[in-house]
Amino acid sequence: MKNFFLTGVSGLLGLNFFLNLKNNYRIYSLIHKKKISGIKNIKLKLQHSNKIKKFLLKKKINYFIHTAAITNIENCEKNKKKANDTNVKLTLKLSKICDQIGIKFIFVSSDHLFDGKKKFYNENDFTCPLNYYAKTKVEAEKKLLKHNPSCLIIRTNFFGFGPNYRKSFSDWIIDSLKNNHKIHVFKDVYFTPVSIDFLIKSLVKIIDKNISGIINISSDKKISKYDFALKLAKKFKLNHKLIIPSFFSEIKKKNNLVNRPKNMSLNNKKLKSTLNLKHIDIDNMINSLYLSRKSKTVLSIKKIK
Ligand SMILES: NC(=O)c1ccc[n+]([C@@H]2O[C@H](COP(=O)([O-])OP(=O)(O)OC[C@H]3O[C@@H](n4cnc5c(N)ncnc54)[C@H](OP(=O)(O)O)[C@@H]3O)[C@@H](O)[C@H]2O)c1
Repeated sequence: MKNFFLTGVSGLLGLNFFLNLKNNYRIYSLIHKKKISGIKNIKLKLQHSNKIKKFLLKKKINYFIHTAAITNIENCEKNKKKANDTNVKLTLKLSKICDQIGIKFIFVSSDHLFDGKKKFYNENDFTCPLNYYAKTKVEAEKKLLKHNPSCLIIRTNFFGFGPNYRKSFSDWIIDSLKNNHKIHVFKDVYFTPVSIDFLIKSLVKIIDKNISGIINISSDKKISKYDFALKLAKKFKLNHKLIIPSFFSEIKKKNNLVNRPKNMSLNNKKLKSTLNLKHIDIDNMINSLYLSRKSKTVLSIKKIK
């Protein structure tokens, strides 16, 4: 059985990762602030390098999956030091420990790294971050590639079921429509999201192939956030009339939002050739999301407070 060390276990991705893979792998994770019943709390802090190093060696960890980050874009802009400390400095520190003791370091980056002028971004395109969150991700990527070339960097954007305290973009759409609330969704912001389920399965396969460097995990076709919301409404048989098409510049002005790229679409050619996949289809993933809504894992995620 392979041993994983997972950061960010209370987060949207971390929690799904833990619950999906806990029966197939030995997963050690430490709680930051949010405690979760049923997940063992290792009493360590990520900042304590020596203790972390000893723990990784003692437990014979094979893979270090780093999902912990400050992910709220508005918060990153307001508290740049905290964002930099967590997203860049802590990431680099952990990656250096892993490099020293021969543990594969996997960093979850973002699709936010560009100015949005290109149709699709591949792994070698120049980055051009528009906000501080994106800057921290770009900075972390550059430092990791310099100091730990054997690390794996995943660029992605995902949807799926999260706990009540951490709803995903798809949760927000589904729950709002179920509650008969109108939602404003961008018609002019494009992305290539994947389901969390697909992301986790792909990640495990990529890890098995021992690949290093950057790889995009994304779906085939770019889609606007508005069209994505319509697809979800249709599949979940919810009232699509509650979805109000909106434009980024209007909402940005109204809600004083931090700047964001209007196109975050990632090219998935490398992923498809690496995993020998023909199509990565958003409709299939939305269909699987619908079918999984009453599964044991999803029900247990929804119960977590
Ligand atoms: N959500 C998306 O669609 C998306 C898209 C692209 C990329 N990503 C990237 O994917 C990764 C996972 O995202 P997510 O949405 O699952 O994140 P999330 O739900 O916001 O969770 C973040 C996690 O990081 C932990 N954390 C924050 N600061 C920490 C610190 N100083 N030490 C230890 N743990 C700390 C949090 O713990 P506490 O709650 O206890 O503080 C939480 O468990 C992130 O790197 C994010 O940038 C996400």
